Amino acid sequence: MSQYTFAQYQESAEAIRARLGGFVPRVAMVLGSGLGFLGDEVEQPIAVDYHDIPHFKVSTAPGHKGRLVFGLLEGQPVAVMQGRMHHYEGYSYEEVSYAVRVLRLLGCETLIVTNAAGCVNRDWAAGDLMLITDHIKLFMESPLRGANLPQFGPRFPDASHLYTPALLGLAREAAAQLGIPLREGVYMYFPGPQYETPAEVRFARVAGADAVGMSTAPEVITAGHCGMQVLGLTLLSNMAAGILDQPLSEQEVLDAAAAAREKFSGLVRECLKRM
Ligand code: HPA
Repeated sequence: MSQYTFAQYQESAEAIRARLGGFVPRVAMVLGSGLGFLGDEVEQPIAVDYHDIPHFKVSTAPGHKGRLVFGLLEGQPVAVMQGRMHHYEGYSYEEVSYAVRVLRLLGCETLIVTNAAGCVNRDWAAGDLMLITDHIKLFMESPLRGANLPQFGPRFPDASHLYTPALLGLAREAAAQLGIPLREGVYMYFPGPQYETPAEVRFARVAGADAVGMSTAPEVITAGHCGMQVLGLTLLSNMAAGILDQPLSEQEVLDAAAAAREKFSGLVRECLKRM
């Protein structure tokens, strides 16, 4: 199995740092399906394509651009990943979360992750936003599998508070201020790329999940390991399989993301303002 060395993470960070002219990002942002537009709103942007960074993989998912944008959003020095890697694209979990560690080395202390996900909770509706309070990931090996790199964190990291309690509070206040209803719940990771079966969605519900999706958990585990604070926001783009009498489609997900654009970017911006 592939195992990156600490030196490789440092090489990636150095190559990026050479492009930043002294700029130090504090907040890393991973933007999900159709949500990458926030990267286009970064002020004084410095964009670095993934394929110009040593050891970086290129994201192939629809609606994902494949570059890092550094600059200011709401006055915060940010590093925005426009496009993330997914396991279903063929990447290992270590590759999927590689950039998180590089951004940590560059100075990021906080990770904001966003995604589109299927809504498992029958009391909610497609188009709602959900604050991720915790996640379930059963069907994947860990991104931390293999020799531990102690420069990043311990062999057996605690996962009691992966989603930082103070940031949950901050997001609640931000949503209240904007008058945006914000659901709160558990995100359950499925590797995809096929959407879940109705039976899997029932299983997720019984297990305590409110949403199902194909991203986020690997990056969050890696971020927690290296001591980053994490805020996770989900756009419930569709009711999960089996709830409505209609097939799921990628177009539905992208349309929902487009429709939620203002609400979603407003919430993320208000959170940034309060950090
Ligand atoms: N399942 C998994 N991933 C998703 C879904 C879904 O229903 N919608 C958007 N991403």
